[in-house]
Amino acid sequence: MPTIFLTGGSGYIGTHTCLTLLNAGFNVIVLDSNINSKKRALKKVLEIYKLSSFNFKNQLFFVEGDIRNENLINEIFEKAKNKKMPINAVLHLAGLKSVRESINNPLEYWDVNVGGSIKLFRCMIKHNCHTIVFSSSATIYGIQEIEDSIKEDGSINPINPYGENKVTIEKILKNIFDGSKENWRIANLRYFNPIGAHSSGLIGEEPRGIPNNIFPYICEVGSGRIDKLQIFGRDWPTRDGTCIRDYIHVMDLAEAHKSALDYLNKKDSEFINLNIGTGIGTSVLELVKTFIKVNECNLNYEFAERREGDSYHLVANNELALQTLNWKPQKNLEDMCRDGWQWQKFNKEFLENTSSINLQKLI
Ligand SMILES: NC(=O)c1ccc[n+]([C@@H]2O[C@H](COP(=O)([O-])OP(=O)(O)OC[C@H]3O[C@@H](n4cnc5c(N)ncnc54)[C@H](O)[C@@H]3O)[C@@H](O)[C@H]2O)c1
Repeated sequence: MPTIFLTGGSGYIGTHTCLTLLNAGFNVIVLDSNINSKKRALKKVLEIYKLSSFNFKNQLFFVEGDIRNENLINEIFEKAKNKKMPINAVLHLAGLKSVRESINNPLEYWDVNVGGSIKLFRCMIKHNCHTIVFSSSATIYGIQEIEDSIKEDGSINPINPYGENKVTIEKILKNIFDGSKENWRIANLRYFNPIGAHSSGLIGEEPRGIPNNIFPYICEVGSGRIDKLQIFGRDWPTRDGTCIRDYIHVMDLAEAHKSALDYLNKKDSEFINLNIGTGIGTSVLELVKTFIKVNECNLNYEFAERREGDSYHLVANNELALQTLNWKPQKNLEDMCRDGWQWQKFNKEFLENTSSINLQKLI
């Protein structure tokens, strides 16, 4: 059974990806500092997973720590080897992800996102692990002036430090690929807008403080914790005047990671950038209306001025991912809205109860 080192595995996308990997039979070692996640999140993953596996506790190991701690990462590789479960591949999700914070605190973002990645890559080289799937982002495309969907070879023009971090990490990986004597297998997954949650309602996005992204913000407004949603701009050149994005269900995104691993495993050597979206554009107003309809709830919203730095149209051309990964998004916007709201309701009602499940420690 292959072993995957999943950095940032306690976070929003990490927990859903972890569950998908466990279901596919992988051993998973998670490293997370929990700076933007709760320790209970992985326990909830196991609660879901135990329904389908007797052996549910023995596949997942958790290490609490920082991606910038090179000694710790080396120790993880060594311990995994000693336990006869050497790490076959890395899924690198750990990092800071707020665009606003990255503008206010760029050094921290460069240090964690780029500095942390360099340390991780150095450890991979040291331990002969040459397969990695990296969490990149559609943010790297910057402001688009076109209404076509974006291809991977479209112009790369990040407009904030967070986007610059992602481009830089992609470039470092390309340098490693080009310069190494070893055969590397590298996939940069450029996520568009992941929303929703696992249908159990036990795991989902849990932002600290005021959410940065629209979907958790909508959920907070729906549950009354935030008064009103502001929609920035109603005079964009789109069908209803609001910005268009490509929303993808987080479980479809999780599945894309597994498919990327399967794809890389069949290759001797590969470097590939892949847009991970549905290819379907949804306006902010359509998202809001769908949320209200499927969840039969009220949502206060108002229109505000356009926000500087927003693209009005950001939709993935996902053909390359569809062709290469043997993967296809299965869930639609209604599923995303329903599952995301389910999580929001369950989260607050039940999750404060601590779980009886203990996570296995590797170190
Ligand atoms: N959610 C999105 O809309 C989106 C879009 C594109 C790309 N991404 C990228 O996907 C990845 C996962 O995003 P997410 O939405 O799950 O975010 P998240 O914040 O929920 O998950 C990231 C995890 O990394 C951990 N982490 C942060 N700094 C760390 C450090 N120094 N050491 C160890 N762990 C650390 C956090 O505690 C968190 O659990 C990130 O790299 C993010 O930039 C996210």
